[in-house]
Amino acid sequence: MCGIIGVLGDHEAAPVLVEALKRLEYRGYDSAGIATVNHGHLDRRRAVGKLVNLSDKLVHEPLAGKAGIGHTRWATHGAPTEVNAHPHRGRTVAVVHNGIIENYRELKEELAALGTEFVTQTDTEIVALLAQRYVDEGAEPVDAAFRTVDRLKGAFALAFLFDGYEDLIVIARMGPPLAIGHGDGEMYIGSDAVALAPLTDRITYLEDGDRAVITRAGAEIRDAKGALANREMRQVRLDATRVDKAGYRHFMAKEIDEQPTVVAEVISHYVPSGSDEIILPDDGIDFTKVNRLVLSACGTAFNACMTAKYWFEKLARIPVEIDIASEFRYREPPLVPGTVSVFVSQSGETADTLAALRYCADKADRIVAVVNVPESSIARESGLVLPIHAGTEIGVASTKAFTAQLTVLYLLALKAAADRKALSGEQVADRLSALRGLPAVMNAALDLGDAVQRIAIAVSEARDVLFLGRGTMYPLALEGALKLKEISYIHAEGYAAGELKHGPIALIDSNVPVVVLAPGDDLFDKTMSNLQEVVARGGKAVLISDETGIAQAGSGVWMSVPMPKVHGDLTPILYAVPAQQLAYHTAVAKGTDVDQPRNLAKSVTVE
Ligand code: F6R
Repeated sequence: MCGIIGVLGDHEAAPVLVEALKRLEYRGYDSAGIATVNHGHLDRRRAVGKLVNLSDKLVHEPLAGKAGIGHTRWATHGAPTEVNAHPHRGRTVAVVHNGIIENYRELKEELAALGTEFVTQTDTEIVALLAQRYVDEGAEPVDAAFRTVDRLKGAFALAFLFDGYEDLIVIARMGPPLAIGHGDGEMYIGSDAVALAPLTDRITYLEDGDRAVITRAGAEIRDAKGALANREMRQVRLDATRVDKAGYRHFMAKEIDEQPTVVAEVISHYVPSGSDEIILPDDGIDFTKVNRLVLSACGTAFNACMTAKYWFEKLARIPVEIDIASEFRYREPPLVPGTVSVFVSQSGETADTLAALRYCADKADRIVAVVNVPESSIARESGLVLPIHAGTEIGVASTKAFTAQLTVLYLLALKAAADRKALSGEQVADRLSALRGLPAVMNAALDLGDAVQRIAIAVSEARDVLFLGRGTMYPLALEGALKLKEISYIHAEGYAAGELKHGPIALIDSNVPVVVLAPGDDLFDKTMSNLQEVVARGGKAVLISDETGIAQAGSGVWMSVPMPKVHGDLTPILYAVPAQQLAYHTAVAKGTDVDQPRNLAKSVTVE
């Protein structure tokens, strides 16, 4: 959701900024821009669309200077045009921004009354012009930036650059993440450690309300009350910030293939080798004292929560409530004593999930974060952090983070079942043994990629696709549909198979592929009845099941994927593989932008 970067360096800033923006492009790609100060003179270059357009522009219109800021945009206020691209500027101030300024209309009216003219439709321009007004009134740059920040309501990570000042960037954070990178005689700022990884591994994260004055000599951080703040400098593991395709055509393909390794990695972090005990970090959770779990997340992470509800309720006998984070707090749900609230987020920065967490902060007994980025806001505001160890996920469509979230949540459900004695030690051990075997089974599923690709080529002709599943295959049907629509732009819906006859069946005709996710479990026969309802109406049933299931389904099935068998609890993790591959190959067949689908961004830091 917009990426920002800044450098006070010893070398030309433009190439450094563009290289860092490349690593931030997953946050938005509607436009990109940079500004530098060169011999005291502030200037900028901006271009609509992917970063490559800005790079091309810089070849013909280079921008010199060793101090600069840059931005890659995911449009909120104002269309994705060059005029609306960041950096925004007044006469002597340039600003890059991630977030939304909620009171921009009020500030705009105030500035308009003073005769200020506006050229963009963005909220960010107001920030630049307000700072400009304070400069014009005689304020020093730092003071002008701080006074501006004091006037803002909403969510922001901001960086200010000033004409005439080649050793100064002023930054502020309220909501979206912002990090300071410490170099040798150079300083950097950026939206995350991934952007800064080639530049430095020494990072300081700002906290909400913080603002900082950056010079080449270092950073002076102040908290929301203006007091000097001492924020920890962390050493970042650079292997956790690797972003290359390793020979794959797309990050998504690479990340799908990485899943067996990631699942094995998760297991190794939570289950010591040779043991049948699940060990949580810090003081863990004593599930004998838990009366209720509340799981909340957005998008794919929410689908992981819905899957986990089946596990927690069935295996550990704990009542579970799940909710989409963007709706959760509007109901003002009362949290009874003994409630543990769990927030699942790959990025750890999703604004709605963070808002739901903050709603629970003083109401739940415990706040638990299941995140991929341990330094993220959601992790930092949680009492217990359960990392998913998926490594950097770059493809906008989440794949390996989903199966890693599922694996962590499954282990948590087993731990709950063991603590509450809802499963015997032997039953837990059997399940852990099956889980240890899962990476190998996932590899076998990945080998079915060619079969899935053949189906995808046919599916790519469709206008609508339905996904059906029962039990834990229901959330996976939602996930399969989400994946397909977000990267192939084909309209897709996931339904509980039993719900088909209550409405969606009206959509079925010979043009509608219906993907039925049905491992050979105790729900198989019922799901087959639903498949037959599809076939009877001329629908094209794609069956994803094991060989026994496919044989039982008979000849009405249009196409099928013969999945390897696995323990019944683990089918949602295993069957995620063909669901993801189907979306991937369909998108490739349609020629869409797989890793950066239109209108989306990887880290959604606005509500
Ligand atoms: C879909 C997808 C999104 C995210 C959602 C939450 O493929 O990636 O639906 O799952 O935006 O993001 P995180 O997990 O970062 O909170």
